[in-house]
Amino acid sequence: MSDGFKMHQLALERVPFAIVITNPHIEDNPIVFVNSAFTRLTGYSPEVSVGRNCRFLQGKDTDPESVEKIRAGLKEKGEFAVELLNYKADGTPFRNRLFVSPLLDTEGELQYFIGLQRALGDGSSDQVTGGIDEALREIHHRVKNHLSMVVGMIRMQARSQNPTSLDNYTALARRIETLQFLYHEMTGSMQTGADDDIALSAYVSRIASAIAYLDGRESLQLNLDLGPMRAPVDTAARVGLLVSELLTNAYQHAFDGLAEGLIEVHLHGSDGMIDLVVEDNGLGLPADSAWPDRGNLGGKIVRSLVTGLNARLSIRDTGRGTRIEIRIPADVTLLDQAEPA
Ligand SMILES: Nc1ncnc2c1ncn2[C@@H]1O[C@H](COP(=O)(O)OP(=O)(O)OP(=O)(O)O)[C@@H](O)[C@H]1O
Ligand SMILES: [Mg+2]
Repeated sequence: MSDGFKMHQLALERVPFAIVITNPHIEDNPIVFVNSAFTRLTGYSPEVSVGRNCRFLQGKDTDPESVEKIRAGLKEKGEFAVELLNYKADGTPFRNRLFVSPLLDTEGELQYFIGLQRALGDGSSDQVTGGIDEALREIHHRVKNHLSMVVGMIRMQARSQNPTSLDNYTALARRIETLQFLYHEMTGSMQTGADDDIALSAYVSRIASAIAYLDGRESLQLNLDLGPMRAPVDTAARVGLLVSELLTNAYQHAFDGLAEGLIEVHLHGSDGMIDLVVEDNGLGLPADSAWPDRGNLGGKIVRSLVTGLNARLSIRDTGRGTRIEIRIPADVTLLDQAEPA
């Protein structure tokens, strides 16, 4: 990492990571996804934003030169950064630092554009953007392949449906929010100078809390048993997506019609290995289920992650509910309980 980053650590800390994904294969390159940080930044909800071209953020004082830069950048299908005047839903102008990069599929074909945005305030351009761009680019590159995988699989699933349908949107949103925590975790790691691995236990804990919070049922208890450890960013990204799929399944499928339930996540590291267990005491998988084989999108994502990690997945019969164990070969650094994870 260059010294440039260190100088801009404080500025980077405030990056909200507003994320917009657009689909250039649909007429006029409309937005297909915005995250919650985008809504906080602009005041525009997903319902209002999805289906529109990003130019709806522009207004009367937007500099045509910046707009032309964006147009040219998109045409090149490369990566570019630009600063332009945008307007919030309530009409307030703000200077927006936009970093755009293409999302390619495994064949290297352009599938989506992803835009990361940061508000610079209303005044003149600020001088820290160079460092921000560099730091953002580095973080983004590490997250990008996982984002491609998630978005690509959802695209496969959605091919027959309306590409901007709400079901499709929800499926995308949950999975991208998981990766969004990774951006945050990496920002933290950069500040401590450890940019190759991240605090896995803290990351997983954030993901699990977010899923439990979204579910909201107080009758379901979630126990997290996470050994403090750091893991390479790539491994962490996959483990995070796995936890997200398994835990969401437990919440969505295990307790239909049951008055209460318990879900446990165990995550422990040992020499060269991570052991992940997600267990619920609910209804159990359907009798004829071969999950994750012949599963839905979730099952396919789990299978692909397990393969990518060179991991082993087993489903244990506990007599009640579902217990899924995943053994992952990984280069982990175990931390003392006392150390911050
Ligand atoms: N913990 C669980 N308890 C009970 N049934 C489960 C559990 N996990 C999965 N299942 C069953 O396996 C099916 C397939 O799960 P999978 O994650 O592949 O797809 P999904 O959850 O239905 O949809 P999504 O693509 O949104 O994940 C579920 O529909 C459900 O019937
Ligand atoms: Mg699922």
